[in-house]
Amino acid sequence: MKRETVIVLDFGGQYNQLVARRVRECNVYCEIYSYKTGIEKIREMEPKGIILTGGPNSCYEADSPTYSEELFSLGIPVLGLCYGAQLMQHILGGKVERAAVREYGKTDVFVDTDSRLFAGVSARTVCWMSHFDYISQAAPGFGVTAHTADCPVAAAEDPGRKLYAVQFHPEVLHTVEGTKILANFVHDICGCAGDWRMDSFVEESVKAIRKKVGSGKVLCALSGGVDSSVAAVLLSKAVGEQLTCVFVDHGLLRKNEGDEVEAVFGPDGAYDLHFIRVNAQERFYSKLAGVTEPEKKRKIIGEEFIRVFEEEAKKIGAVDFLVQGTIYPDVVESGLGGESAVIKSHHNVGGLPDYVDFKEIIEPLRELFKDEVRKAGLEMGIPEYLVYRQPFPGPGLGIRIIGEVTAEKVRIVQDADAIYREEIARAGLDKSIGQYFAALTNMRSVGVMGDERTYDYAIALRAVNTVDFMTADAAQIPWEVLQKVTSRIINEVGHVNRVMYDLTSKPPGTIEFE
Ligand code: XMP
Repeated sequence: MKRETVIVLDFGGQYNQLVARRVRECNVYCEIYSYKTGIEKIREMEPKGIILTGGPNSCYEADSPTYSEELFSLGIPVLGLCYGAQLMQHILGGKVERAAVREYGKTDVFVDTDSRLFAGVSARTVCWMSHFDYISQAAPGFGVTAHTADCPVAAAEDPGRKLYAVQFHPEVLHTVEGTKILANFVHDICGCAGDWRMDSFVEESVKAIRKKVGSGKVLCALSGGVDSSVAAVLLSKAVGEQLTCVFVDHGLLRKNEGDEVEAVFGPDGAYDLHFIRVNAQERFYSKLAGVTEPEKKRKIIGEEFIRVFEEEAKKIGAVDFLVQGTIYPDVVESGLGGESAVIKSHHNVGGLPDYVDFKEIIEPLRELFKDEVRKAGLEMGIPEYLVYRQPFPGPGLGIRIIGEVTAEKVRIVQDADAIYREEIARAGLDKSIGQYFAALTNMRSVGVMGDERTYDYAIALRAVNTVDFMTADAAQIPWEVLQKVTSRIINEVGHVNRVMYDLTSKPPGTIEFE
């Protein structure tokens, strides 16, 4: 039986991933495709519904993204959002024009609650608007089901043909009843049962992996981060000891992190798999000795990591599958899914490492958003501290120590960072700050401790709030918490005599220090 799927056709809008996430929150599986996806492919997929996203263009202009009229006569329900709504109206004979003023922000929308799309929604409801063009006249066969003070057609529908158009963005949280509207569409209008859940994802994936892997050998590079941990557990559930996980401890992890990963995945852990921990700390420190330039440090750590992994892979010999923890935003952002691609080369989607002898790549989380990866992890019993781990860069503490990396500096930053994390958690702030950590500045200065003069390092504390990690603001941490962290670090961590808090936003700063 085919899995119930609603597809999002992406016309370049900034909220494309959000639309898919909201649909999945209604327990309906959803995938994003570019508007360039052919009608034949859509027919083959047999989606239960199609959602057309917003986009930056004007639909009446010659070069703007469009779709063939056939889309609207497949008998599959279609919901157009913003540009998607205008395009639907334009193609089917309605009128779209440039408005005198842009309608932007939270707007009161008056809806016809007799519409199935708006069932249970308040007659006057706040929605998020962001458009210059507007539908001045609905297409033949369509009835107008919502308006605003500035917009005569804020929604239109032809229920007979199962076609729905809304000018606003139900996927954005500012649209107060947006989820209700999307749920009405996918459940009532598309007739989806809504049985997409994490337990069924885990169950289905385990079955699919077993079928694909057969009696093959599988290799996974485990970093201890959320994605690779969840991927490894899923594989271990499916194929047990056919899976080997290699965990390279480069000596640049947070305090106790290496042991924590080993406790979960090692021989005393709960999972059935081969676990290899490579203690390569000294090897990395000696390669990094005397190196101060940030990019050079990154390069050395990255290359050494590959060398170590390669050596382990050689010992294991040929494998059939290599696991990668690619997740859905990586797929979309690499331009393979939707339209509004932010190309990020480091995501490495589809790129295969040539230093391991394997036949095929396996990406068990390719369909999931980050929060869904976490849910799957919890579902499979992975400890919460691992599942909710904050982002941690591949080069680890190597880029949180300004200047040369030494074993002693690693110890200092690890201890300071552990105190900082402990106090942030104690203050109940750990779930509300995007990313926070201690870094070791290369600055040494004079201080006094007891009766003695000191000449020691300064620790910098960083905490940022961010939506996408492209921009960020310094988090406002209560003064008392910062004071407590400061005095604990100075008292408990040797060779630190100053602590500073970094207030720089990104840009002009970055989140990390190097
Ligand atoms: P920046 O410092 O560029 O950080 O503002 C943005 C996000 O990326 C992470 N980051 C890295 N991750 N290798 C990684 O795997 C790196 O070299 C690297 N540099 C930064 C950083 O932790 C933040 O989440």
